[in-house]
Amino acid sequence: MIIAVDGPTASGKGTIAKALAAHFGLPHLDTGLLYRAVGRQVQLAGGNPDDLDAALAACDFPEALLDDEALRSEEVGGYASRVSVHPGVRRALYERQRAVALQPGGAVLDGRDIGTVIAPEAGVKLFVTASVAERARRRWLEMTGRGIMVDLAIIEADIAARDERDTSRADAPLMAAPGAVLLDTTTLGRGEAIAAAIAAVEARRA
Ligand code: DC
Repeated sequence: MIIAVDGPTASGKGTIAKALAAHFGLPHLDTGLLYRAVGRQVQLAGGNPDDLDAALAACDFPEALLDDEALRSEEVGGYASRVSVHPGVRRALYERQRAVALQPGGAVLDGRDIGTVIAPEAGVKLFVTASVAERARRRWLEMTGRGIMVDLAIIEADIAARDERDTSRADAPLMAAPGAVLLDTTTLGRGEAIAAAIAAVEARRA
């Protein structure tokens, strides 16, 4: 069974995807991490993520970069969003994601275009959303919890800018795949969101 979990940043899709993978005993790939690694590689090289050549060169990032703590930063998230606009970058990362989706037994993948481009044949597609204010609040809590002092208004503006870029790009924009189950987590706690996602998958399988 392939489970595609798409949605904007800080919607809860990563938490939900991880929990679904554990519950159904499937491997999980956070595809945003691949774009973050490309963004981080551009940053380390002192390049411009809007520049196609710099972004393409960064697609050959070393595997160890996937464990870099800096990948979780807002700044690298912004770089990731900017490199992800280039169709050449999306093509370079396609096979790797596709190979995970096609594993025998299936997998859970989360990202922006899993249900639309990477695994349109997925048996279950979820589109996870939450309001911008709630997503900013979650990101702020997570960052301050890690000792990073940031202004909530700045986080909210960053998230809104990232949404705008991710939904308006020409190639594989963020959108709900046809037939996707919509899951709005704005008013749901972590456990409630996971329970709702498991129920949605089970309903689709039945
Ligand atoms: O999910 P995330 O915040 O880690 O993703 C970082 C950026 O990577 C996101 O703003 C857009 C890009 N991305 C993408 O274009 N397609 C995906 N499947 C996953 C992420």
